[in-house]
Amino acid sequence: MKMNPWTLSVLLLLAGPLGADPDWHVEYPDSFCVVEGSTATIPCSFTHPAGHRVERVVWCTNQVFCNDITSTPNVYDSNVRADSRFQYLEDLVGNCTLKIIKTVKQDAATYLFRFETNYDNWAGRKGVVVNVTDGEVVKVRSSVTDHVVKEGGQVTLTCTSACSFHQLDVHWYRNGHALSETGPALHLSGLSNDDAGNYTCSLDSSGRNTSAPWCLVVVEDEGFHRSVHLKVAVVKGVVLAVLLLLLAGVVFAKWFSNKTKRI
Ligand SMILES: *[C@@H]1O[C@H](CO)[C@@H](O)[C@H](O)[C@H]1NC(C)=O
Ligand SMILES: *[C@@H]1O[C@H](CO)[C@@H](O)[C@H](O)[C@H]1NC(C)=O
Ligand SMILES: *[C@@H]1O[C@H](CO)[C@@H](O)[C@H](O)[C@H]1NC(C)=O
Repeated sequence: MKMNPWTLSVLLLLAGPLGADPDWHVEYPDSFCVVEGSTATIPCSFTHPAGHRVERVVWCTNQVFCNDITSTPNVYDSNVRADSRFQYLEDLVGNCTLKIIKTVKQDAATYLFRFETNYDNWAGRKGVVVNVTDGEVVKVRSSVTDHVVKEGGQVTLTCTSACSFHQLDVHWYRNGHALSETGPALHLSGLSNDDAGNYTCSLDSSGRNTSAPWCLVVVEDEGFHRSVHLKVAVVKGVVLAVLLLLLAGVVFAKWFSNKTKRI
C-alpha cells in the first residue's frame, strides 16, 4: 500500500497511544496468485520491539489469529518438524517468506503469519489471499457460448488471465498471424469466412504467455445470402434495362437516319 507522508504521520499518531505498537508488524501482500503445479514464494517480513527474541513462527490458513490449532492444522510451525510442501525459507529475525511447493487447487486459502517472542506474540492482521489457477494462465473467452457464428454476425473475444488483473498490453493472433488490434477485447463484426480460424492472445509481445487457441467457425446464413442475392439481382436487372434502352436507342437512331437518308 502506498501512503502519502500526511496519511502516514496521522496513522503513526493514531498508532501511538490508541492503536497497535508500531514495533509489531507483519507485512505481506493482500493477495497472491499462483499457477497450479508451480511453486509459490509468498514474500513476508515482520518486526517486533527491540529486546525480544523470536522463539516460534507459525503459518496457518483461514484463521483470525493463527492460534486455533483445533480448526485447521498449521501449514508450518517451527516447533514441529515436518516434511511438507510448505517451507519456511528464512529466519527468526525479520523474513517470514513462505514457499509452497507444487501448489494444488486445495492450497487456495487465506494465509496468516504469527510469531511468538520470549515476552509476547503477534499475528498479521489480514492474511494473504492465495489464488490457485489452473495451468492455462492466459485464456480466450468469447461473448458467444458456441464457436459457430453466422455470417454477418459478431463476436467479442476477451483475453483473461487469473494471475494478472490489469493487462493493457494484449496481442491478438489469428492462425498464428498477429492482428493489428490490441487491448483486452477483440470485437469482430460483419463476420465472413475470412474471419474463421484459431484465435490466440498473448500478454506480452514476446508471445511467451500465449493462450490456447479459440476456434471460430463462420457458417452461411440463409437469410443473409437471400438478401445479398436479392441486391445482386436488382443491380443486374437495372444494368440490363439500361443496356437494353441504349441498344434500343442506337437501333432507333440508325433506323431513323436510314429513313431520313432515303427521303
Ligand atoms: C526473504 O527471503 C527470501 C527467500 O530466501 C528472499 O528471496 C528475499 O529476498 C528475502 N527478503 C528480504 C527482504 O530480505
Ligand atoms: C485450428 O486448430 C485446430 C486444432 O486445434 C486444427 O485442427 C485446425 O486445423 C486449426 N485451424 C486453422 C485454420 O489453423
Ligand atoms: C509469462 O510466462 C512466464 C514464464 O513462462 C511466467 O513466469 C510469467 O508469470 C507469465 N506471466 C503472465 C502474466 O502470465
